[in-house]
Amino acid sequence: MPKIVTLPGDGIGPEVTAAAVAVLREVAPDVTIEEHAIGGGAYEAHGEPFPAATRDALKDADAVLLGTVGGAHDSPWNKLPRPLRPESGLLSLRKALGCYANLRPVRVQPGLEHLSPLKPELARGVDILIVRELLGGIYFDGDRKIEGDTAYNTMRYTTPEVERVADMAFWAAEQRKGRVTSVDKANVLEVSELWRRDVQALRDRKYRGVHLNHEYVDSVAMLIVSDPGRYDVIVTENLFGDILSDLAAVIPGSLGLMPSASLGDGPGLFEPIHGSAPDIAGKGIANPAAAIMSVGMLLRHGLSRSDAANAVDRAVALALRAHPTRDLGGTADTQTFTRAVLDAMETPAVG
Ligand code: NAD
Ligand code: IPM
Ligand code: MN
Repeated sequence: MPKIVTLPGDGIGPEVTAAAVAVLREVAPDVTIEEHAIGGGAYEAHGEPFPAATRDALKDADAVLLGTVGGAHDSPWNKLPRPLRPESGLLSLRKALGCYANLRPVRVQPGLEHLSPLKPELARGVDILIVRELLGGIYFDGDRKIEGDTAYNTMRYTTPEVERVADMAFWAAEQRKGRVTSVDKANVLEVSELWRRDVQALRDRKYRGVHLNHEYVDSVAMLIVSDPGRYDVIVTENLFGDILSDLAAVIPGSLGLMPSASLGDGPGLFEPIHGSAPDIAGKGIANPAAAIMSVGMLLRHGLSRSDAANAVDRAVALALRAHPTRDLGGTADTQTFTRAVLDAMETPAVG
């Protein structure tokens, strides 16, 4: 019996995770679900954002389903020493799981082009996989400080770190259209020079059948929303991937449509890419689609249950058509949307 650890977290995290868990129970009734604390709430209850009990629960987990962590800009959590802040709990979780590759699919499902602010001809058929490096770069480097009127952080990568995430991107491209775009800032940064060199070398050594090109991150920020159809797999370092994936959320129409899977050495971590949305938390109106689609990714990548994953994706698409949430210009609240997903899973697929 697979064991899934759920970490609802802060803000809208518990709201969207409840929706995701309802769908998970429906589609995989045999799984054991164990809930634990993370983030600001965990700090309040246990004095740390990634408590020992949560860390222990991961040991025999088959997959982890996360909500969101963090508070508003004026939250007292933002004044805590950095290791005690909610976001540090999430970073520690990712590190503990060893999940170095964060897969962030950007997809416009057929018949849902109208949810995109882009012209329908640009949005139609978009299917991009952003592979974000998740355990390195400027996020984790110990060479960092703020003192007086000076502060610095360091972006550092090693060849093994670049190769393992690039390997994941090439492997994914082989199951897709066979094209990888590596995104860097090699015209300015040495760390990007290494990144580009190592990605190219891996392609030449191991993935001759995959087409690889290199683009600069500033240019990609423009092209990904003006010509999204040009991309298949994008692979990039941690910070660039964080920024580009929120930007790419514009294509399907909302951050609430962006799930993710973080894969690596241990059990996978599955989470929506959006944050705790303090502006709408507690109102019952958050879009749970990204969290529910993350359950789809959990079923596919964490439990190797692709039929169940397909059933979830199909049900979400049907629900989005009939009951769009407010972030998508509709009126459905979290519960109405979740009910629509559950109902859609009961209707047999046509064709
Ligand atoms: P955010 O993603 O929480 O919100 C940005 C905007 O998108 C807000 O207007 C919000 O209402 C909206 N939005 C996000 N998800 C939505 C959903 N599912 N349905 C409807 N609308 C949605 O980003 P932020 O405001 O910059 O950050 C808020 C907090 O979340 C911060 O503390 C930040 O550190 C944290 N954060 C956490 C994660 C995570 O847990 N993985 C990710 C990003 C940000
Ligand atoms: C995300 C978030 C996190 C990140 C923060 C909350 C640490 O923005 O998951 O995209 O920057 O990775
Ligand atoms: Mn982010």
